[in-house]
Amino acid sequence: MTRLEKISSYINNDELVLDVGCDQALLSIMLAKRGIFSIASDLRENIIKKAQKNVPEDLKKYITFRVGDGITLNSDETNYTLVMSGMGSYLILKILNSTPRKFKKIITISNNNHDILRKNMLDLGYIIDKEEIIKEKNKYYNLIIFKEGKTEYTKEELLIGKNHQNVRLLKEKNKFLIDKYEKIIKNISKQTEIEELEEKINILKQNI
Ligand SMILES: C[S@@+](CC[C@H](N)C(=O)[O-])C[C@H]1O[C@@H](n2cnc3c(N)ncnc32)[C@H](O)[C@@H]1O
Repeated sequence: MTRLEKISSYINNDELVLDVGCDQALLSIMLAKRGIFSIASDLRENIIKKAQKNVPEDLKKYITFRVGDGITLNSDETNYTLVMSGMGSYLILKILNSTPRKFKKIITISNNNHDILRKNMLDLGYIIDKEEIIKEKNKYYNLIIFKEGKTEYTKEELLIGKNHQNVRLLKEKNKFLIDKYEKIIKNISKQTEIEELEEKINILKQNI
């Protein structure tokens, strides 16, 4: 399954979806084929105009397009599942910090800084529901589904995540990260940075 197919698999037929950073609206098209209504939203008008052309005539009624920065819901639009995929963790957090809106379900796929994402989502009132590692074109992506709640995470949970649905790929990704961090350590001299990476490597080694 591709990243977007995986996101779709975590969305039920009765959900309404806001896809922020929709780009070509491929997720919305996928959802529309299942009869799911969504708002496909992106920063610039030219992106949205191009995306609109992608939508087959019979699926148009399922997709509303919006141009805007971040959350583009109107005040009367409630109970939307928020999807933010293909963005960095810091951008995801910036978007959520700029809205007073709360969401019952948020699906993110970013490919970096997941520990920072998990920690800051907690501060925003969201906890991890499920996670899954996806491998697409030889790159690993970490899908995280958040729900409202409070908890405390251990250092290990912040780094590795929780409730992973594909443990085989999680272990494969952890091995990849150990190699990557070991190579980085060889090329840096700052002791605090080395210690930080060594700590990460130790946690990762317990999860392979
Ligand atoms: C790499 S694409 C990801 C497309 C698709 N979501 C995916 O996962 O394949 C990132 C998209 O996010 C959009 N984007 C970046 N910052 C944004 C913001 N603040 N609000 C809305 N969209 C944004 C970009 O214009 C771009 O189309």
